[in-house]
Amino acid sequence: MKPKIYITRKLPEQIIKGLSRNYDVRMWDQEDIPVPREVLIEEMKEVEGLLCLLTEQIDESLIEQAPNLKIIANMAVGHNNIDVQSATKRGIMVTNTPGVLTETTADLTFGLLLATARRMMEAEDYLRSGKWETWSPMQLTGQDVHGATLGIIGLGRIGEALAKRAKGFDMNLVYFNRNRKYEQEKELGIEYQPLEKLLQISDFVCVMLPLTAETAYMIGKEQLELMKGTAVLINTARGGIIDEKALYQALENREIWAAGLDVFEEEPVPLDHPLLTLPNVVTLPHIGSASIATRMKMATLAVQNLVDGLSGDTPRNLVLLNKSK
Ligand code: DGY
Repeated sequence: MKPKIYITRKLPEQIIKGLSRNYDVRMWDQEDIPVPREVLIEEMKEVEGLLCLLTEQIDESLIEQAPNLKIIANMAVGHNNIDVQSATKRGIMVTNTPGVLTETTADLTFGLLLATARRMMEAEDYLRSGKWETWSPMQLTGQDVHGATLGIIGLGRIGEALAKRAKGFDMNLVYFNRNRKYEQEKELGIEYQPLEKLLQISDFVCVMLPLTAETAYMIGKEQLELMKGTAVLINTARGGIIDEKALYQALENREIWAAGLDVFEEEPVPLDHPLLTLPNVVTLPHIGSASIATRMKMATLAVQNLVDGLSGDTPRNLVLLNKSK
């Protein structure tokens, strides 16, 4: 009997075409609708391999109902949707898709930074809704990006790629990270600062961290109060790192100038979310890695990890427990 695998979202045929030779493949057949929890629970009963997205909560209760499960291959670099500890305790491997989305996510992050600083969405809306009657001196004026100070919280792969883009805009670069990155400091001309100092001196603050127990609500009222009144906060990492209630207050009271958000604590963000009522918030629906080429690479890598794990090889992107806490 072929080992059973379950794929939680419809993937392009070319990504999965070889799989059925060696595996009994089942796949949720919708592209834009997540698999219902009860369907997933049912599927988990027999599978040895699971390929899932960040939209599925692979928690302890689900893992407990999968007695044959050997590997959970996430099609994302972030894996806060998976209880890695419970999986590891049961000898189940967890993999992610780092590397292939670095540049694409950095592109989007810098784009969101520019769009937020220069009020691009608001300006487009201004034009399309017929408000543009004349050119005027202070109309839709924003913040300069060139020459400004960019504070990067989390200098991992994507943080570094963002720093490279910012250098091209002559930005001054500072970062905060759990560990100092001496080589990158030299290479990128980026200076380490404690978090409080980074928040005080930066014109743009980009959150580039994974969501873990340590980073949850890392940016709250206290941290927002340290930021400049002209500062712009960008988050393309994960909702849940920023306290959204505190952010709303800070933006509403103009304690900070604007925010660009590609991620939210609850996704899809409810349309009545207070942050969506503010003109100084630019929002996107979690599209950091959404280029055709990158999403194909992520899916291919997730499949490779799954196959490696099931055929007894160590998957190339095994998530190690101490790194995921
Ligand atoms: C990830 O990979 O974690 C992104 O959020 C989606 O590409």
